[in-house]
Amino acid sequence: MFIGLDLGTSHLKGIVIDDAQNICAEASFPLNVKRPKNSWVEQDPNDWIVATENVMASLSIQVKLDQVKAIGLSGQMHGATILDQNGNVLRPCILWNDTRSFEEASYLDSKAIFRDLTGNIVFPGFTAPKIAWLKKHEPKIFDQISKVLLPKDYLRFWLSGEYVAEMSDAAGTSWLDVKKRDWSDDLLAATGLDRNQMPRLVEGSEISGLLKGKLAAKWGLSGDVIIAGGGGDNASSAIGVGVVKGGDAFVSLGTSGVLFAASDAYQPDAASAVHTFCHALPDTWHQMGVILAATDAMNWFSKVLNSSVQEMTNNLGELKAPSDTLFLPYLGGERTPHNDSKIRASFINLDHNADRETMIRAVIEGVTFAFRDSFDALTSTGTDIKQLVAVGGGSKSEYWVQAIATTLGLPISIPVSGDYGGAFGAARLSMIAQGASKDEVAISPKIKKIIEPVMPLHDEYLSALNSYRSAYKALKTLT
Ligand code: XUL
Repeated sequence: MFIGLDLGTSHLKGIVIDDAQNICAEASFPLNVKRPKNSWVEQDPNDWIVATENVMASLSIQVKLDQVKAIGLSGQMHGATILDQNGNVLRPCILWNDTRSFEEASYLDSKAIFRDLTGNIVFPGFTAPKIAWLKKHEPKIFDQISKVLLPKDYLRFWLSGEYVAEMSDAAGTSWLDVKKRDWSDDLLAATGLDRNQMPRLVEGSEISGLLKGKLAAKWGLSGDVIIAGGGGDNASSAIGVGVVKGGDAFVSLGTSGVLFAASDAYQPDAASAVHTFCHALPDTWHQMGVILAATDAMNWFSKVLNSSVQEMTNNLGELKAPSDTLFLPYLGGERTPHNDSKIRASFINLDHNADRETMIRAVIEGVTFAFRDSFDALTSTGTDIKQLVAVGGGSKSEYWVQAIATTLGLPISIPVSGDYGGAFGAARLSMIAQGASKDEVAISPKIKKIIEPVMPLHDEYLSALNSYRSAYKALKTLT
């Protein structure tokens, strides 16, 4: 048996799979984000521990865990979790969708070495500019930093006592030489850090340490339980849906929206705002376009309407052409393709007939157009995407998946019921770390349904996409 733990933004999720990859148990525990100021997004790392304790307790009630051989970790990327020399957390973690460090990001990005070595723009959401922000605004805390850990690597530290990161998540820090798969001393020095303040690096499918005996005993595990490197949530999800080689791709409708394509070589194109990161398997990389608010936009609107997302999306019927009402989903800025931390969301063109359903569909369509923007950015780098698998909470809405399929003009496959998110991919990585062959483990899932594009509506979606793009340009003049 194997365990996958995925430290998401809204939930920590855990699954247990058997040696044939059947899911034996699953549990999740909600997490809150704090937004103390405009553009700030933080979480208390202690909440991740509480969530892990709850999830592990629930898994251990559902199934005896004494046969578990390994654990894999997946998690929200980029967050800066900073520890003092005794391993104590110095302040709340600054998350991936926090854009307070836009000035520091733009300063670091102006130094050629960052794009040259990381293959990426230094986005405000990445880790290095957050530390540069701390150096300027919280210097006393900065001076005490003994280790900088990504969220799931803090969980690893708590589980194993080891300071270890793996390549896919480390690539999102702006400190990794993404081609060489090693920390860059020069990039670290540019933010006042050195290699000693960074965790040791392993590949996602390698062993990073062992579960502490005390925790193993508490949850009923026995013997030496391996903790695998794991992956950032997107790389882990990719392993979960078998997206591991050039030409494989998936779309993730999670809190963030991601269009992800695996590649066999390192082929960065920073200017496109596409992210080029290491994959969670050795010698592989991936590219992705990232939308900061996908289901997050829906969740925001569900709070406004005081209605559940399910109620909002259940009765939409057959796919309709977009109305004139547009929604730009930039609640906290946007990464691909705009790299714009200041832009904010808008509804545009509301008329007397615009009702609740018009606005719900506008939110779905707005996120859909943002996916098309990422798709165009990815394909502009030469990446060829012929079909996609959909994962993430939003993929439960067939209406939404079909809107995306129609706008991209591509079929999108929905895996059979089961969990193909980060937790499943992390469990798969732990199987590989324990000795299984990657070719046998990281295979494509069985497909429940292929959602075809509604081609008669394709042009109407593209015409609304044009208005959406013009609306961004016009809005930008107001920020
Ligand atoms: C990727 C990104 C998000 C987070 C949260 O660059 O910022 O997808 O990993 O899910």
